[in-house]
Amino acid sequence: MAASVEQRAHELREQLVRHNYRYYVLDEPEVSDFEYDRLFDELRALEEEHPELATPESPTRRVGAAPSDRFQKVEHLSPMGSLDKVNTDEGLRKWADDVRKRLDSDEPVVYVTEPKIDGSAVSLVYEHGAFVRGATRGDGIRGEDVTTNLRTIRAILPRMVLPDGEAPPPVLEVRGEVYMPLSGFRELNERFVAEGKKTAPNPRNAAAGSLRQLNPAITAERPLSIWIHGMGHHEGLPANGHWEALEWLRARGFRTNPHAERHDSIESVARACVEWERRRIELDYEIDGLVIKVDSFEQQRRLGVLHDRPRWARAYKWAPMTAQTKLLRIHIRVGRTGNLNPWAQLEPVEVGGVTVSTATLHNEEDINRKDIREADTVIVQRAGDVIPQVVGPVLPHARGTKAFRMPEQCPLCGAGIVKPEGEVMHRCPNPKCESRGLETLIHWVQAAMDIEGVGEQFVRRLWRQGLVTSMPDLYRLTKEQLVALDGYGEILAAKAVEAIEESKARPFYRVLFGLNIPDVGWVTARNLARHFGSIDRLMAATQEEIQEVEGIGPERAEAIAKWFAEDDNVALVRELLDLGLTFEAGEAERPVEGPLTGSSYVITGTLERFSREEAAAALTAQGAKVSDSVSSKTTGLIVGEEPGASKLSKAQRAGVPLLTEDDLLKLLER
Ligand code: IVH
Repeated sequence: MAASVEQRAHELREQLVRHNYRYYVLDEPEVSDFEYDRLFDELRALEEEHPELATPESPTRRVGAAPSDRFQKVEHLSPMGSLDKVNTDEGLRKWADDVRKRLDSDEPVVYVTEPKIDGSAVSLVYEHGAFVRGATRGDGIRGEDVTTNLRTIRAILPRMVLPDGEAPPPVLEVRGEVYMPLSGFRELNERFVAEGKKTAPNPRNAAAGSLRQLNPAITAERPLSIWIHGMGHHEGLPANGHWEALEWLRARGFRTNPHAERHDSIESVARACVEWERRRIELDYEIDGLVIKVDSFEQQRRLGVLHDRPRWARAYKWAPMTAQTKLLRIHIRVGRTGNLNPWAQLEPVEVGGVTVSTATLHNEEDINRKDIREADTVIVQRAGDVIPQVVGPVLPHARGTKAFRMPEQCPLCGAGIVKPEGEVMHRCPNPKCESRGLETLIHWVQAAMDIEGVGEQFVRRLWRQGLVTSMPDLYRLTKEQLVALDGYGEILAAKAVEAIEESKARPFYRVLFGLNIPDVGWVTARNLARHFGSIDRLMAATQEEIQEVEGIGPERAEAIAKWFAEDDNVALVRELLDLGLTFEAGEAERPVEGPLTGSSYVITGTLERFSREEAAAALTAQGAKVSDSVSSKTTGLIVGEEPGASKLSKAQRAGVPLLTEDDLLKLLER
């Protein structure tokens, strides 16, 4: 064996021991889980190839680190193992084949999947039904006694809830994951910011840190919860498998995760692994994969354990959703409503399987609260709830950097930037600002009118040429003008002109949506169109009358009335009316009585099988109302890819159920 192999194995062991210590004892990991896993896998591959290298002390044999001496040490009643992981469909199937080979080839195997909670593992001991001791995992054999801290967590059962006449088991050890809900995590970090303290990098870290406080009063203030996912030591419980064990535990008051699923084939497990990667955003806690367990205890026993990792279980882990990269520049885009939207240009980096080179930065206040500066190394996150976000800088800042300031003048038209009292967004007040006009046009052709073959690039080009500066200009374009432009042949030009002409027949609500009235999304546009029936009635409406429309509060009503009071806007409407666009409600706006009458839905994010409009149309076709904003009256929030963070958190706070696209389909089929 080459000396270099031995050398490398030695290096890897030293690094892993160090990382274990930082992760488990100090709660201050230096590397991402992903990086850790990579080192771990490399060492394991080396040891498999050269078995003479493997030592019983190797970190591949022992996951975790010796407990710190801050707490009393306790020995677990049975060792707390860890899980081997797979991260591809292929790996999953290879494991299933191995399971098959080790069992009799034709006996059925049932699997249970459950979310892999990104928290801190604990063991809880119940004696005669009472919680007597709880410990962290430590090195799997001995952990830290954190009983007093665990007692402050309300989700931890102080005493088992036993069915009438049932005697409590003399000893029962349950295993679970203490975690911090995302909502609580955000609040905690806000509090840390307000108190000038260092924020927690992620919920798992926050949970582990909170659990290992020397003062239980501090733990008590932290929003911690627990999911119980199995048993350790127990004596003669009436369960034949994991699924029954979970049911048994649930029936006795333990908090088990409702998203555990039973599967009778590995194909079904594979589908769950794909489905939950998408659905993880529905949860108010972080999961980094699924845990897959062979259900039958008898089969589990026959499969056995290798080192401390059961052959009967695997963790299916997804690609990480965070990464580090360099923030190259902070740019400003002036949106179609005049808001100045800062965004980060990043050195391209892969986050959760997607290359990210830009991220939203929200507003000046947020940038400075997070202390993000140009040239910083930053952590980028693709949390389920947002388009890539910059979580924060990896300090220290590069030398000579300054806190971010919004420009005082609009970068496009030079108008003085304003920031209305009580608002967080800076705005360009100039209604004729080039960017606003251009962005409005892009919004018109793409989102509102959806004109085939006429997109952002087309509009930008015509804008630059001075051929189109407003919506009416678009309808006066001729084929000849287009042919005169480079790259437009007769056919293409004729098609574009025809598509533009056709768009005149788009329903009233889409025209309203396209007009770029402040805060009028397509749902509000539809509700306005339906309520008033025609542009004349809408233009004549007072603020109070507008407020009667579904989903419109006083502020929005005022903004809408104000918009229609401006001469330029009235002129624009008249011009479009003369050009023959639709300004009367028709079939598309008609309310329907149906099985969903009385219910009200909000849609957020991108759906796979429908556009949001189609989904809304399908819902309203069955009598449901579709609104733009979540309130306590919302029946359900339908969540697609990259949903809006505020809608999601509002729904969670208001206890509004979250629905997936599949749920929507079922709803529509009913
Ligand atoms: S079962 C033999 N189920 O993942 C270990 N573990 O890498 C059996 N975890 O230490 C563990 N969610 O802290 C199991 N639903 C779940 C889990 C889960 C998170 C953690 C646990 C364990 C680690 C294994």
